[in-house]
Amino acid sequence: MLCLGIESSCDDTSLALVADGRLLGQESAAQAGMHALFGGVVPELASREHARCIGPLFDRLLRRTGVSARDIDVVCPARGPGLPGSLLVGVGFAKAFALGSGARFLGVNHLHAHIFAAGLERALPLPALALLVSGGHSMLYRVDAPDSFTLLGRSLDDAAGEAFDKAGRMLGLPYPAGAVVDALAEEGRALPRLFPRPYLDNASLDFSFSGLKTAMWNYVAAHPECRVSFDAASGEALLPQGDRRAALADVCASYRLAVVESLCFKVERAFSGSAAVGVRSLVSAGGVAANVLLRRRMRDIADRHKVPLCVPSPPLCTDNGAMIAYLGALLADIGYSHAPDMEAVPRGRPIPDDMLRCR
Ligand code: KG4
Ligand code: ZN
Repeated sequence: MLCLGIESSCDDTSLALVADGRLLGQESAAQAGMHALFGGVVPELASREHARCIGPLFDRLLRRTGVSARDIDVVCPARGPGLPGSLLVGVGFAKAFALGSGARFLGVNHLHAHIFAAGLERALPLPALALLVSGGHSMLYRVDAPDSFTLLGRSLDDAAGEAFDKAGRMLGLPYPAGAVVDALAEEGRALPRLFPRPYLDNASLDFSFSGLKTAMWNYVAAHPECRVSFDAASGEALLPQGDRRAALADVCASYRLAVVESLCFKVERAFSGSAAVGVRSLVSAGGVAANVLLRRRMRDIADRHKVPLCVPSPPLCTDNGAMIAYLGALLADIGYSHAPDMEAVPRGRPIPDDMLRCR
């Protein structure tokens, strides 16, 4: 089964081919540099950029893999959640391709694909407990099969990646700030009481990060010297040296610790509840899964519960076409497809259970 996956839910255009569970090739165009000028993703610019890039990326993918368009059995776009205009570019391209070539058409849930990304690199024992942490989402799932996900908890406000990005912005760091905050945190010393651990004192598996963001806001207001300045010409942050850098690194380390401990507290709680019965692996996925401290702490949890930790390598943690193609191929193998009138689903609306089963 040869599957073309198309990711265009946010600000990455990425197309990949997967055959029999193996990645044949991937071609991507990132837009982060363009959106950094505005401090966040500008939806209108994102969709135009997808429309500009998608055709040439497809041609390059065929050229580099030596695959002929006629040989593609199934075409899978990310159908949501995401930015509506961005999703429509990938979904429209996939529908046109399916109609023109006769390939099967199947829309893939972007969040579920993040979780299965680890399967491209190693076996993913199911059922799994899965933490998905990205710029737009923080979710905790029990996963029993490629078509069976139970949502256990989610963020009530900001996503974990958003919490990093907004804190970074308050500190004057460039967007997206997660990786920079993480790198600075590695240099620093975390002060465990500098920031709160919100929304733990309850029985819920949901997360909340808005209070933590407010705490950072208050901290920066009281310590304006920790703000990084910008080089107006290049738009790049000028990281300080010496004592000021050490102080910035400590703030980043303390903030990172608060986010990671808040996430891991709920993962531990999920492990001690009925949702974890029979669980054979722990999965950490999404852009924030690249976080060095989160990786360490999730490994500790997995070790304590004697299950393997499955985390994709960093390029597969962020948005990519390979994960869409991989989950699409698993679902197509079971016999699923979508009707050509399948809708793209923007963030905030539930993804309908509308896959058709042909066998
Ligand atoms: O999964 P992703 O590429 O896109 C979404 O679907 O949102 O995730 C991007 C998010 C951004 O918020 C970025 O700041 C964050 O992942 N991120 C990190 C790290 N690397 C990327 N956050 C914390 N630590 C990192 N090392
Ligand atoms: Zn994503």
